[in-house]
Amino acid sequence: MRKRVEVGVLGATGMVGQQFINQLAGHPWFELSWLAASERSEGKRYVDAAPWRLETPLPEGIADRAVEPATPGKGPRLVFSALDAGVAGELERAFAEAGHLVVSNARNHRMDPTVPLLVPEVNAEHLALLRAQAKLRGGKGAIVTNPNCSTVVLTMALAPLRPFGLRSCLVSTMQAVSGAGYPGVASLDILGNVIPFIAGEEEKIESETRKILGALAGEAVELHPVRVSAHTSRVPVVDGHTETVAVALEKKPSFAELRAAFEGFSGAPQRLGLPSAPERPILYLDQPNRPQPRFDAARGRGMAVSVGRLRPCPVLDWKFVTLGHNTVRGAAGAAVLNAELMQAEGLLD
Ligand SMILES: NC(=O)c1ccc[n+]([C@@H]2O[C@H](COP(=O)([O-])OP(=O)(O)OC[C@H]3O[C@@H](n4cnc5c(N)ncnc54)[C@H](OP(=O)(O)O)[C@@H]3O)[C@@H](O)[C@H]2O)c1
Repeated sequence: MRKRVEVGVLGATGMVGQQFINQLAGHPWFELSWLAASERSEGKRYVDAAPWRLETPLPEGIADRAVEPATPGKGPRLVFSALDAGVAGELERAFAEAGHLVVSNARNHRMDPTVPLLVPEVNAEHLALLRAQAKLRGGKGAIVTNPNCSTVVLTMALAPLRPFGLRSCLVSTMQAVSGAGYPGVASLDILGNVIPFIAGEEEKIESETRKILGALAGEAVELHPVRVSAHTSRVPVVDGHTETVAVALEKKPSFAELRAAFEGFSGAPQRLGLPSAPERPILYLDQPNRPQPRFDAARGRGMAVSVGRLRPCPVLDWKFVTLGHNTVRGAAGAAVLNAELMQAEGLLD
């Protein structure tokens, strides 16, 4: 049996950090050996620094571990980052410069032309950008990112439509409160309410989508020509981002062709049998009132994206609803899948 790779988590005490601990518990390839966070948590027992907020119990062996300072050069070579975006830019760069492989959730480096922005089912080949990073950094450390939580869901749903000539896309999101971290949005603001603004979110969806769907040309990505217009809202849901999507396509596929494209979609994680890969990355649901976050966010252990309500659009061509788990598929699970892809491609050796 292959020796497990030691890994650490930066920002281990936050919402996404906790989800990392959950995803890495009992992982067949990775061994979680290092938990780091800010000065506020440093030196405390994990259980005291980070009251556990997930529905599953705190995995064994974590409660009494000391939270370490996030010092570049300390900790294992492979570190997952769930750092607050306010500090992730500089800290992740410092970790990469100290020789770490940083697999990050944070927004800061996603649009850097040398940094892969991965959804492994959609653009596994973008890992080749690491060659450009190696030239800059002498081949030691590197940064790999996953997209914003709404963008992961959207790009998974749009990728099967690329062969039909994806021209434009209008997307409206209904985003869960867990996407805002902890303590996140005040209960008095969100209970019984909808907040039609999430700072910076629309810009991220509109730009990241084009990079993810783009084609690799040498050691660069050519942005996909699709025009994306996003409207984002926060809704009183705990987990699971729901998105209503309308698309214009160059070709004129039938309902049956589109449904088959969603259902038949798969990629490198399925081909390589990566441990976190859902058997079917997209689940098409026929019930007229699905997907719904309460029932469908956890499908495929939170790694599958659901699509439903596919119907003609009187303005563009087709419209549908899609949904994914924001802290699993949209964050920690996405990063763990990225690291599994890197391991399968021999990039962690
Ligand atoms: N929540 C989601 O659904 C989601 C989805 C995709 C991406 N993301 C991104 O993932 C990252 C984490 O999000 P979150 O929701 O987990 O946020 P969060 O709950 O606020 O957690 C932030 C983490 O960063 C740590 N931190 C803050 N300042 C630090 C410093 N100076 N040095 C070291 N550690 C520091 C915190 O440690 P302390 O506890 O010690 O303060 C905490 O562990 C963000 O960049 C976010 O944009 C989140």
